Amino acid sequence: MEIKKVGVVGCGLMGSGVAQVAAMAGFPTVVREVSNELLSKGLGGIEKSLAKFAEKGQITAEQKAASFARLQPTLKLQDFAECDLVIEAIIENLDRKRELFRELDAIAKPEAIFASNTSSLSVTEMMTATRRASQFLGLHFFNPVPLMKLVEVVKTVATDAAVLESALAYARAVGKTPIVTSDRGGFIVNRLLVPYLLDSIRALEEGVGTIVDIDNGMKLGCGHPMGPLTLNDFVGIDTTFYISEIMFNEYREKRFAAPPLMKRMVAAGMLGRKSGKGFYDYSDPKNPKPNRELER
Ligand code: CAA
Repeated sequence: MEIKKVGVVGCGLMGSGVAQVAAMAGFPTVVREVSNELLSKGLGGIEKSLAKFAEKGQITAEQKAASFARLQPTLKLQDFAECDLVIEAIIENLDRKRELFRELDAIAKPEAIFASNTSSLSVTEMMTATRRASQFLGLHFFNPVPLMKLVEVVKTVATDAAVLESALAYARAVGKTPIVTSDRGGFIVNRLLVPYLLDSIRALEEGVGTIVDIDNGMKLGCGHPMGPLTLNDFVGIDTTFYISEIMFNEYREKRFAAPPLMKRMVAAGMLGRKSGKGFYDYSDPKNPKPNRELER
């Protein structure tokens, strides 16, 4: 099935990026939030990101304006009626996602494909809230969506082969490289990344090294663009904590268990970059300082 019009539910960090890359690739894109305030915040982020691409000459001023104009912001799910592909990027809560898909199922045209951007929840369990099991899959984008080249395409036991092909073609059309994975908690990337992120916190807890030395170890020794503690702050300590809980429940393996320090940081509201403090203090965002309290 050819995808001509895209819908994105949620205009937060991930949803805004997913909508942006669709619009930049030429797709008319409906993007929905639950309030005007959240919608404006998401659209503001898209505008900033487009401006960065334009400043660097990666897109022209006309392309920037045309991309933005392809976005149709809305508060109503009814506006997804004509979309060929609807990508969900709301809060990581299975009940909320199932409820949303149940509603969308009654609104979207029968041939429309549904996708979830979940990073760790079961796509199959979301699928069962709809009557379009064969047209349901995962499309997992990475943060920051406009820059990261990967999309995990998650097939369930019920996903139709032609639907999988359409999803792969869509990922390529928005400039990404797709990889195919089956519906197992964390898919490919988080299955490998989450234990690594958790282990970096365990290393800090055990006094293996300072925050800066642990990060420099992986940055300079392995060529990673960010050290693991910086990446924890970037993703959000609460987000990784939440993903680890889901994966621990799925696999019951120690490597997915959140370390005590992480749990306490979440309780204390030390969530990383977004809260101003995590493994680093972002009071001066251009010059983050290691949070020495955590090294004691
Ligand atoms: N849109 C457009 N441009 C952007 C941007 C955005 N959203 N974000 C950053 N940029 C630009 C910056 O303006 C900057 O431009 P200049 O080079 O002209 O200054 C450039 O990208 C590089 O940014 P920075 O200088 O701020 O920092 P950097 O060189 O470290 O690059 C990064 C930033 C691309 C994020 C890089 O650090 C990186 O790849 N980090 C790893 C990110 C990662 O692992 N993401 C996956 C997270 S896990 C996940 O998403 C899955 C999950 O389920 C949890």
